[in-house]
This record gives sequence, structure tokens and C-alpha cells, in this order.
Amino acid sequence: MKQLSKILVAILLLSNTLLSAQNRSEAEIDHKIDSLLALMTLEEKVGQLTLFTSDWDVTGPTIRANYKNDIQSGRCGNIFNAHTAKYNRELQRIAVEETRMKIPLLFGYDVIHGYKTIFPIPLGEAASWDLAAIEKGSRIAAIEATAAGLHWTFAPMVDIARDPRWGRIMEGAGEDPYLGSLIAVARVRGFQGDDISANNTMLACVKHFAAYGAAQAGRDYHTVDMSERMLRDQYLSPYKAAIDAGAYTVMTSFNEYDGVPATGNSFLLRDILRDEWGFKGFVVTDYTSINEMIPHGIVANEKEAGELSLNAGVDMDMQGAVYYNYLKELLKENRINMVQIDQSVRYILRTKYLLGLFDDPYRYSDEARQQRLLLAPEHQEAARDVARKSIVLLKNDKNTLPLSKSVKTLAVIGPLADNKTELKAAWSGAGEDQHSVSLLTGLKDKLGNGVKINHAQGCDFEGTDKSGFKAAIDLAKKSDVVIVAVGERASMSGEAASRAHITLPGVQSDLIKELVATGKPVVVVLMNGRPLAIPEIDAIAPAILETWFLGTQAGPAIADVLFGDYNPSGKLPVTFPRNEGQIPIHYNMKNTGRPMDPNNKYTSKYLDSPNTPLYPFGYGLSYTTFTYSDIKVNKEVFTPREELKINVTVSNTGKRDGEEVVQLYVRDLVGSVTRPVKELKGFQKMMLKAGESKEVTFTLTANDLKFYNRQMNFTYEPGDFELFIGTNSADTKSRKVKLVE
Ligand code: GLC
Repeated sequence: MKQLSKILVAILLLSNTLLSAQNRSEAEIDHKIDSLLALMTLEEKVGQLTLFTSDWDVTGPTIRANYKNDIQSGRCGNIFNAHTAKYNRELQRIAVEETRMKIPLLFGYDVIHGYKTIFPIPLGEAASWDLAAIEKGSRIAAIEATAAGLHWTFAPMVDIARDPRWGRIMEGAGEDPYLGSLIAVARVRGFQGDDISANNTMLACVKHFAAYGAAQAGRDYHTVDMSERMLRDQYLSPYKAAIDAGAYTVMTSFNEYDGVPATGNSFLLRDILRDEWGFKGFVVTDYTSINEMIPHGIVANEKEAGELSLNAGVDMDMQGAVYYNYLKELLKENRINMVQIDQSVRYILRTKYLLGLFDDPYRYSDEARQQRLLLAPEHQEAARDVARKSIVLLKNDKNTLPLSKSVKTLAVIGPLADNKTELKAAWSGAGEDQHSVSLLTGLKDKLGNGVKINHAQGCDFEGTDKSGFKAAIDLAKKSDVVIVAVGERASMSGEAASRAHITLPGVQSDLIKELVATGKPVVVVLMNGRPLAIPEIDAIAPAILETWFLGTQAGPAIADVLFGDYNPSGKLPVTFPRNEGQIPIHYNMKNTGRPMDPNNKYTSKYLDSPNTPLYPFGYGLSYTTFTYSDIKVNKEVFTPREELKINVTVSNTGKRDGEEVVQLYVRDLVGSVTRPVKELKGFQKMMLKAGESKEVTFTLTANDLKFYNRQMNFTYEPGDFELFIGTNSADTKSRKVKLVE
């Protein structure tokens, strides 16, 4: 029998090479998969549902020592955290030459914002509002990662996040469903390209499904509790957009939804993902999230957890070894069935076919490509370009910026002034410190020997030690301008990195105050993974740049903006609160029955803080100025069968060319349920030369006004709407229109 099955497998593999993946029809792929399934043992099938980490780069709390034996026995069909062409080729060789079925391994890795060339953190890239640049960054990440033996990235992370205490806010696209959905699509297109069988495209993985960003109190892994209406209206659209864009995989989130952990939640994984959205790819868990349903208190043991997950629609178990250990028993006890197992195996094998792995399992492990493509010059230029575009100018009193290149002496101060370690931030893939360019180096490269640049760290990120202040202040007093680079360590955001206080850590604020007290012009350069509450700094610093963590090309990009070689165009994708007490605070909140009235005590406000944020969603300044005309519409009253054309003229009234992100918001004034005071429904990023004016047109239809009504139907309702157009969510022109039946 063994000899016969070997011959059959050989025939099957031979037939596989006759047709390459992209020419194969679904029917042909189904036929191939049926033939494989017919030959596979139960252990081999469960092996395809098993994902283990390599021992190179652990991103979670546990590690399995014998993953190579698991590959050899056919009991592990997928590996993550293994990378480089050479290493992955060796692991793949074990799978396709030493196992009975010779099914290729799938290699996954967290390529979140770059593989070797590190791009700005996703929250920073979102601030560019430049979908083409974001797609290009993901495209380059895929080119580098697939040259290093990888087929699958655990990205994009599309979790809507409205709590800056949550460390993973750095990993997504901020607070807004509309912007988040467009960015999700750009990232999926970047990773997967037009042909998933090409050797420079990779599977995307939409995560974390669902609503992980709504963790209570911003504390990672905490409970998520929201209505189905809130889930559907505010949190699901980026996941759906990514799946509609063709994402091949989805990752479940650690959190519960409506009392059931996502990893065991059939409402999410079957009713919504499969039945409503028609998802055809496979679902992978997050790291041991099946096992974690025990502490969630929804199952008593791992066997029950495995039963709940498979029945809920989970196809692949990441690192938990629950399917590995219990599916056989569960099958024997008829608590699951072979149809379910075969369906999950089918989803995974189909993906491997589509990648072309059955045609050539080594096609992604090409050392020559890896040598040529990693850190390629064109990748550095692209990284520098999107980094520049991600920078947000938060304040610029008296046109402190841009600085003049004829400045004589520059003081560059702060823990991030000459730091390369933090720039790549959390989730920095295979990025290495030595490839990053610090701010100090970026400035020296730009200014050459013509400018005297003095550097002092001044203080550390944390602690109360101010012994470095004096040297820093002495340098500042001897300089024409002071640049102070402050913020967070990379480890202060990302996974398991929530902060209860979102001010500048340590004594950095005190350092800024003493530098400002010298009377020299001080430019604050922030490097951080979340919105920071810095009202004191905003009150005294003449200029503030939000630069997030910009990755490999951080230094040159910041220097480009500081000295005006690039006019900053970034806009905040997330609200910056004045203090933690305001959280959650985001632009698209409800009006309430007692909206804030400063003259009426009994309205919604604080005794000790304004309601308004420090900086609103969509906010960002430029080195030039823009004005907006009043809004014109093609009709005051429109029907569901008509298009509403909305025009405004934007003028660059300054002396510099600059880009503006013109934003369109809408408010549904009366609905069958209460509606947000604003919702982003469009934006256009455009270059305007000094003195130039452009007419901007937005088109809306009734379909753009849909929401989940009182009966939970996704529909629009006739009535009055208010349109807002402006340079950010708070500074807008408005006018009303009416939708009639
Ligand atoms: C982590 C993260 C997830 C990541 C996975 C693999 O716990 O939650 O985003 O993709 O494990 O590293």
C-alpha cells in the first residue's frame, strides 16, 4: 500500500508541474486538492491546520523545540518567524523531500511596516493620507520579504483604535472607518499585487478580527464590549474592505465579542465572515488564542477549546498545538466531523496552490534575489518619501520652520537626537538598527560642514536624572536654533505595551521647558507610537513636528522637512487628547442630549478640562496657508437616484507650494438612531502652487449615507444632512442639503 501511495503522490506532483498556478482553473485546483485529500492521513490533514513558530524570532510567550520533527512527520504544514532564503529553503526541503505527502510549507511573518527596509509605523503612514504611497510601501515590503523566503504576512492590522493608551494603536490606521478602509485596501493590494502566484507577492492577513482596538481602558488583551450596531457601523468596515480587496487570510483577535472570544465566535467567523461577506480564504488564530479561551472562562480545557474553535470556523491553529493534540479524539467522539476538517484543509491547500508552491516550492527562496533586493536604493528613496509625507506639523509660531540652511550653529538635543535603535519601532520585521539613519546623521548629511552642529542627549527616556540638562542648555545658549528630539522608546508601544499615562516619559518635558527658557527658537521633534498628551509643550514650544517612528530613513526625512526641502502635508489619523481623562475622544462622537454649552452647567463637560482635543482628527499645518471658499452644491434637495456634487475652491495663499488634504464630512441630522456629529466621507490630497486655486469636487449618493438603522438594516434614511469641508475635522465650512425619497 505504501508503495502504491508513493507512486500516486509522485504522479500527482508530476501533474502539478504541468500547469502553473495562474493558468489553473478553480475546478482543476479543486480536483488536485480532492486527489491529495484522498491520500492524506488524518495526522497529515491536521498538520495542514497547524502553524508553529520557528525558534528564530518568537513573538509570543511559548516556543516548541521540535518543530523540525513536526515538519518531517507531516504534523506541521506551516511555519512562522522563519525567514531568509537559505533557512526557509532548508525547512522547505524537509517538507517536500522527506515527508510522505511532500506538501510545501507556508511561511508566515509579521511584515507590518517593512521587512528589511523599515517604513514608518502604520499609524504614521496613515498620517500621509497618500494611498498610493502606502500601497507602494507594502509592495516593497512584499518584494523584500518574498526574496527572503516568505509567502504570507500577518498584516494589514486594520483594527479601529480610539484609545491612545493602547500600544497597538501604532499598528493600524487610527480612529476612522472610512480612512481605515481605504488604507486596508491599499495595503492588501500592496502585499498581494495583481498575481498571487508571482514570486514577489505574498498573502495578506487581515487582523485582528474583530474589534481588538476597542479593548477597555486601552489595556491590551482586555475585554471588548459594544453593541452590534457599534461593531457594524464603526469597526467592521476596514476588515470587510480588505476582504473585498481579495485578502486571502484572516486572523482572529484575542478579545471576546458579545461574551464569546473571537477565536470561538461563530457569529463573527461564520455568520459575518463566510455567510455575509463570502470570504473564501482561511482563518488563522492569533498566537495560542485557542488555548486562551480557558482563562477567558468559556471552556474548561484545551480539548473543549479545539472543539469550539473548529465548530466556529477557525481553520489554522497558531502555536497552540490544540488541533495537533485533540482533533483526532474530538473526531472519534463525533464532536467535530471530517467534512469540517477537510474543508479547512481545502482552504489552506488551495492557498498554497494559488501561491504556486506546488509548482515550485523553492521559488521564494532565491538568495540572489535576496542579495539584490533587500535595502535596494529605490526602496530607501520610497521609504524616505513616505516618511516625509507622514510627518505632521502640529505648531509653527512665527514661521519658526522651515529653518534656513544658512543657520550658523545648530543644537540637536534629546534622547532621540542621535538614536538609531528606536526608529524602526515595534513590529520591525527583520529591520536592523545599523540600517537606520538617525536625525543627527540626517542633519549632518544635509547641511555638510557649513553648519556647526552640536549634540547632547540631555536626558534619558525615563527616570528623574537631570544631570545632562546643563550640557544641553549650554549648547543651546551657544546655538542659533535648538532641535529637541523627544518621545517614547519603541518598546513603549506595540503589543503588550499599553500606557496609563500618555505624556512624554521621564523628564523630557522639563528638558524642553529649560531649553525654551534660554530664549532660543526651539523646534520639538516628537518620535512616538501613539498620540501624546502634551498641552504644556504645545503652550511653550514655538514649533512641533509629529514624526511618529519613521523607520530606516527617519533622519533624512525629518531633515528634509526641518529645512524646507519638503513642505509637511501630513494630517492626524487619530485625535490627540489633552489628557487621559478625556479618553475615549474621537471626532465622530455623538451629540448627546446635552451637548456642551459653556454657559450652562448642566451640559456634557468637565469641571477641570475642555472637551476639545489638543489636536483634532485630520489636523496638520503646512509651511504655506490655504483658504476655502463656501461650499456649492448642484442641488439642495436630491433623491436616491441622483448624485450630489459638492464643490469648494481651495487657494494656496502663501509663498510656498504645498499639499493640502481637503476633507469632506457629513452629519445625518435626524436618524432612526442617534448619529455621529461628523463622519469622514471623502478626501482629496492635492498639490497647490503658491497663489494657485483649484476647484475640488466631491460626489455623494444616498448609498454613501447608509448606516444600521433602528431595525439593524444597513440603509439610508431621507432627511436633512449637513456637509462639512475643511482642512481638518474641526475647521470646516458647512451647508445643509436634504435627501428625499
Ligand atoms: C502576536 C500578535 C499578532 C501576530 C502574531 C504572530 O501575538 O497579536 O498580531 O501576528 O502574534 O507574531
